[in-house]
Amino acid sequence: MPDLPATAQADVPPARDWWKSAVVYQIYPRSFADSDGDGVGDLGGILSRLDHLQRLGVDVIWLSPVYRSPMDDNGYDISDYQDIDPLFGTLAQFDDLLAAAHERGIRIVMDLVVNHTSDEHAWFLDSRASADSPRRDWYWWRPPRPGHVGGQPGAEPTNWVSLFSGPAWQWDETTGAYYLHLFSPKQPDLNWENPELREAVYAMMRWWLDRGVDGFRMDVINMISKRELVDTPGGDPAPAAFNGPRLHEFLAEMHREVFAGRPPGLLTVGEMPSSTVEQARLHTDPARTELDMIFQFEHVDLDSGPGGKWDVVPLRLSRLKACLGRWQEGLAEVGWNSLYWGNHDQPRAVSRFGDDSPHHRVRSATALATVLHLHRGTPYIYQGDELGMTNAHFATIDDFRDIEALNHYRTAVAAGADPVAVLDALRRKGRDNARTPMQWDASPGAGFSSGDPWIEVNANHVEINAADQVDDPDSVFAHHQRLIALRHEEPVVAHGDFTMLLPEHEQLYVFTRSLGGRELLVAANLSSEQRVPVDVPAEWARAELVLTNVPSAARPSQPDDADEAAAALVLGPWEARIYRR
Ligand code: GLC
Repeated sequence: MPDLPATAQADVPPARDWWKSAVVYQIYPRSFADSDGDGVGDLGGILSRLDHLQRLGVDVIWLSPVYRSPMDDNGYDISDYQDIDPLFGTLAQFDDLLAAAHERGIRIVMDLVVNHTSDEHAWFLDSRASADSPRRDWYWWRPPRPGHVGGQPGAEPTNWVSLFSGPAWQWDETTGAYYLHLFSPKQPDLNWENPELREAVYAMMRWWLDRGVDGFRMDVINMISKRELVDTPGGDPAPAAFNGPRLHEFLAEMHREVFAGRPPGLLTVGEMPSSTVEQARLHTDPARTELDMIFQFEHVDLDSGPGGKWDVVPLRLSRLKACLGRWQEGLAEVGWNSLYWGNHDQPRAVSRFGDDSPHHRVRSATALATVLHLHRGTPYIYQGDELGMTNAHFATIDDFRDIEALNHYRTAVAAGADPVAVLDALRRKGRDNARTPMQWDASPGAGFSSGDPWIEVNANHVEINAADQVDDPDSVFAHHQRLIALRHEEPVVAHGDFTMLLPEHEQLYVFTRSLGGRELLVAANLSSEQRVPVDVPAEWARAELVLTNVPSAARPSQPDDADEAAAALVLGPWEARIYRR
């Protein structure tokens, strides 16, 4: 613990809240590092790259699914929760990875995908086999819509459209019934109304915790309680199938059955598309013992127009600040935020929120990281974002691999959409942008694989790669190291109150953090404008400059040259500064 004013020390919460000063790093195993040359990342690859994460300084790895899976959705379709897919390795290798991470002081949080299984999971095979099977009720089976013939268009029990295009119900001849799949037909939804199913899930979770894992990132966990199986406007399943009436009850029960009584050190984070601040406050209120934090989606929906995700609209900074500021405020007294710009489902942060042109890429990636890491909440770094990796440049639809993208292209084009426009939207928002191989070095396989990678390596790995950055103090990597170290050393970063300044400004992102007399000012020019003056309160004159993403020689001249004073600050393009007083 650094030397701090007594007031700040007194506000540091106990170890049970350790994750408030932690930084999480997400690994998408398929694209991280391939140790056996088959073109697909694996556990051996992760093991060989732990030094990179230790050097970066992160506290936790969130590991996207490595369980046995037919890989319809790259492992988010699980056929055995208690085994590792041979593509990724073995359970013994997993244990080695866990031990090696723990030795380095890094925890591992597993991805928990229990809204649905694979249709090849033993539970579903049993459920599907007969209407009397003991596990029949573990999934959502329904007869055709009254007056319709099963299997015919329009006979689906509700009009819901799956999140991966097409109807959310699949006709099954075996028993003449439909089953629900909010995602692909190979991802049937589990029926959490069934207590035996819930107990089977909890038992599986206990088994992983007993093995030593440090918690769970819970996939689309707000979909486990369905509201009502009824038609919705436009077939959007969200109003009927998300955030159902028993969600709080299920999460509290899960906590009781799985986490209660275990020593502190575990982390739970629930992925919750279309969750509101009010819902999040309930889910993350420590007194209610549901979850430590959730992933909200509002800020990653701001560039979606009325037509949804693929209807890409420009993003105004004032709207982004209004959104994130509302979440900061809403969870200020009770609850906790998770902070992210991207993950394996989102385009690359620097391409979406920054400027990935060679001229501004490094600055915009580091400015965005500064803003994110200085919010109140737990920051999540998606693999490669610590290098400022960019969106891919997919030439044709054949370069895409993701089921969501391929299905959307097929259905949209079949429905008459202009293929050029569909492709353009996929290039901007498609999930494959985040899934191109991790760029370790400038070699032809980017140091990711000695074989043919499952998805094309981004050609810019020659300029953007880890080998070039880890020893360069001006790199995106080094800036992330400094941000992580600052959070570890300075309690106000983790625990301080958040106040947004200049909410209407369209270039500047400015806020303060304060804790027991210690205050930080964060000011960033999130635009390519050359000189943006910041009108900061006078008390910040002569404050200490703690961190900046621009070497001093490259900073714009200040109006009164007031030795690093913030009071009349001018920021260059994508310049970010943190002051302390
Ligand atoms: C979550 C995952 C995503 C997956 C979906 C279905 O949103 O993050 O990758 O496709 O759930 O499991």
